Amino acid sequence: MSVLEIENMTAFYSDFQALFGVSLNIKKGETVAAIGANGAGKSTFLRSITGLVKNNADTFLYNGETLTGKVASDIVGLGIAMVPEGRKLFPSLSVEENLIIGAYQQRPGNWTLDRVYQMFPKLEQRKDIAGTALSGGEQQMVAIGRALMSNPDMLLCDELSLGLAPIIIKDIYSALPSIKAEGVSLLVVEQDINQALEIADRIYCFQEGRISLTGKPEDLTKDQIATAYFGISYD
Ligand SMILES: Nc1ncnc2c1ncn2[C@@H]1O[C@H](COP(=O)(O)OP(=O)(O)O)[C@@H](O)[C@H]1O
Ligand SMILES: [Mg+2]
Repeated sequence: MSVLEIENMTAFYSDFQALFGVSLNIKKGETVAAIGANGAGKSTFLRSITGLVKNNADTFLYNGETLTGKVASDIVGLGIAMVPEGRKLFPSLSVEENLIIGAYQQRPGNWTLDRVYQMFPKLEQRKDIAGTALSGGEQQMVAIGRALMSNPDMLLCDELSLGLAPIIIKDIYSALPSIKAEGVSLLVVEQDINQALEIADRIYCFQEGRISLTGKPEDLTKDQIATAYFGISYD
């Protein structure tokens, strides 16, 4: 049984079509990765799920309830949280204030400031400084923490690795298993194919607003993925 079920989703920016009939489902507790080149429509898809981009779909269900027509705050209230591309912290707010903002819906659950600081001890040391004064990796931790503060059942992560050094990326990704252990389903968008293959139970490859390939990492060849990702084959 899928927690998120999307069939044939389309999305437009005025008259520019960014998604062309995307279908994707996520089962409870599953980690799904969406990969694809720059401009393939990955962020548009996440923003459509979270009510930030207008979209149409034949099926758009979360826990059996339709998300069509719901506004972003309702969707957070239903248990879907997003770590947006580029972190998007509030520059005038401290680390702790940025985290507290994430809890504005007061959705019940296990995530508290203490739990977030346990997961990312560096943030507690820096809780009173402006979020934007942190390093890129620390900002990413705040963005993840802020999303967790809404006590989500599903977490959407948009390019956690963007602009970060490999060692920092490893650090950030090492937080995901403990989030998953809480029963949270994950949809992780990545341009970094290896990172995606490493953590995902299933992947979807986006190409020019469409799903060009889907499957379990162990069932897909490197060449299939390269073709689906870049639209070219190395044969
Ligand atoms: N706010 C916007 N207005 C107009 N076009 C946009 C906007 N955001 C994204 N696009 C376009 O939609 C397409 C998909 O973009 P995006 O979803 O950001 O891709 P990805 O996240 O895979 O890099 C691209 O062609 C991009 O230029
Ligand atoms: Mg993007």
